[in-house]
Amino acid sequence: RVIIKTKNPKFKDFPPAMFVKGFLQDYEERVKNFKVYEDDVWLIGFPRSGTTLMQEIIWLILNDYDVEKAKSADTYNRAQWFDFFNVLHKIQGVDADYMDKMPRPRIFKTHLPVQFLPDQIWTVKPKMIHIHRDVKDVAISLYHLRKNSFHDDVGTMEEHFEQILNDRTWYTPYREHVLNYQRIPDYPNILYLTYEELLADKAGVIKQTAKFLNTPITEEQVQKLIDHSKFEKMQKNKTTNMQHYHELFNQLSNDNKPTDNFIRKGIVGDHKNAMSEETIKRFDEWWAQRTTLKPGYNK
Ligand code: A3P
Repeated sequence: RVIIKTKNPKFKDFPPAMFVKGFLQDYEERVKNFKVYEDDVWLIGFPRSGTTLMQEIIWLILNDYDVEKAKSADTYNRAQWFDFFNVLHKIQGVDADYMDKMPRPRIFKTHLPVQFLPDQIWTVKPKMIHIHRDVKDVAISLYHLRKNSFHDDVGTMEEHFEQILNDRTWYTPYREHVLNYQRIPDYPNILYLTYEELLADKAGVIKQTAKFLNTPITEEQVQKLIDHSKFEKMQKNKTTNMQHYHELFNQLSNDNKPTDNFIRKGIVGDHKNAMSEETIKRFDEWWAQRTTLKPGYNK
């Protein structure tokens, strides 16, 4: 059994699914029993799939496209990041009670695998938006995030690739994570997006998302969102660039200063700059095998 190396003794010895449990710790039951409302919007994606960008877009769609108001608080608290209950509670007082009282419609973003979602999701059936990105670009992007992390002790990039391919790092197994969301049986309220289509046709994806959320949108509002969510702008914007969170997380660790921006490069195909032909082939073959995997949402 491969064990994730970590700087933080709290996460020592957690294998992959347990790694998520490690994040949730004592809160797992509270997550399972979390109260879900019909008008919630749940944004879901594996880390580094473009969730922060979609968070900002969804929040604006549901808040009158008010870009000034968007600057009043972190995107991670406007469209509340649901995971990491223990850490968020410690540093910001965010827990189930806090989230229960958020103004509705509430927006949540989560990287949790499907079997960790609150039970009421399956009876209340709120709207879900799922975003997915080429695993090779996710792998590169995740490596840079792990380097910044206060609880992880990432090795070389090659070691990190092995861990993804062997389901041994954050939120893995990756293939099951994506697939189990893509094959939820009988779920009427789910919109599937990809990071690649979002970058290729932002106007189209914004309109599609607004329609899914039953919110009218004008051409002018589309342009406003496109402008507000430009890579360079989101990287500079203090309420979207996560700098604030890095600082909070650094309060928990003494040895880890962030080196890369959370909003890092924002392109499609970045893996071509960092992966050998052989590794690309391995990832492609590995991803192609997904058809033989069994559903795991009842685990
Ligand atoms: P890169 O590391 O490849 O640049 P998530 O928010 O789900 O963790 O995803 C992070 C990825 O989305 C990072 O990818 C980040 O740079 C990219 N991203 C964030 N905001 C973006 C934007 N406005 N435009 C394009 N990409 C963006």
